[in-house]
Amino acid sequence: MVAPGLAIDLGSATIRMHVARRGLVVQEPSVVAVDSRSGGVLAVGEAALAMIGRTPGYVIMERPVREGVVGDFDLTQQLLQYLLARGGVGRFSHARVVVCVPPSSTPLELEAMEQGCLKAGASEVMLLSYPLAGAIGVGLRPSQAMGQLVLDFGAGHCEAALLCMGTVVTRAALRKGGDTLDAAVSEYLRSRYDLAVFRSEAERIRSSIDVSTSTPGGESLRAEGRDALTGARRSQILASSELLEVLAGEMADIVGVVEHCIQESPGDLAPDLLSSGGVLLGGLAAQRGVVDLVRAASPVPIKVAEEAQTAAIRGAATCLEEFDRWQRVLAAGTV
Ligand SMILES: Nc1ncnc2c1ncn2[C@@H]1O[C@H](COP(=O)(O)OP(=O)(O)O)[C@@H](O)[C@H]1O
Ligand SMILES: [Mg+2]
Repeated sequence: MVAPGLAIDLGSATIRMHVARRGLVVQEPSVVAVDSRSGGVLAVGEAALAMIGRTPGYVIMERPVREGVVGDFDLTQQLLQYLLARGGVGRFSHARVVVCVPPSSTPLELEAMEQGCLKAGASEVMLLSYPLAGAIGVGLRPSQAMGQLVLDFGAGHCEAALLCMGTVVTRAALRKGGDTLDAAVSEYLRSRYDLAVFRSEAERIRSSIDVSTSTPGGESLRAEGRDALTGARRSQILASSELLEVLAGEMADIVGVVEHCIQESPGDLAPDLLSSGGVLLGGLAAQRGVVDLVRAASPVPIKVAEEAQTAAIRGAATCLEEFDRWQRVLAAGTV
């Protein structure tokens, strides 16, 4: 019988969990309902969102995850316990767990993740660095002696990493991503038009824009929200070019991560990079114009991964299925 096992990606926007022989079982917004009296996790994702406004005061909503790291030690434990239980792992199930972790994790954060999984019933834990997970998820073999560039653009974080022989050789990262773009859109609508919009509306508007165009005027957009002064519902027509100006600075910072990582790369990997190029993954890879901006700034060719948003969890699932093999090849450089 195949050992039970789980692969987990605690993204800042989405929590994903793959269960052996069952597939992707959890794909939920990174929102957690916590019982503030016990610290226990009551619900995750849609189920937590559905509790808003219907629960006693001791239930609080948290967005605890910042790209693979849970802000608080106890909550890490509680969240892992909840997820492992949901994946059918109990104290005696001898399950293997693969968890994606950022390459910037501190030893304390790694310890919290590993101990959290073991306490929740895992018998073996593999902590898998996000860029390696993403590379494996899109079919690359990062254990080869060949430099490979992986760009992961998500909600709260954009990262470029150069991989070689199963390890991260150089990396550059920024705590900005889709959420930062949405916040810039919200802020602009409020200050320019006195229009307050939900986060989801800012995301919808931002997602409809091609961030690489600079044609004056551009498309006309309608934003739905509430008047910031009266609270009355209203909509506002505006030009996409107004938002492009707002987004340009943020996009320049994000694209700068790629340039920075390439500049820092050891010169002997340059020929590899020129021939293999880089792969762009993460949800923001699907934003219109993002790859064009990256290509304009990158000296190496860049491809967009298919199903870019689920690359990391698919890579973690591959490591779960071929646990011994990947543990061996990635052993020296998993994080
Ligand atoms: N089709 C799309 N167009 C533009 N942005 C998108 C699209 N799909 C997802 N995103 C953005 O990608 C981000 C989520 O990416 P993801 O890699 O899942 O994040 P994380 O790993 O941080 O949880 C969000 O900011 C979301 O708005
Ligand atoms: Mg991610």
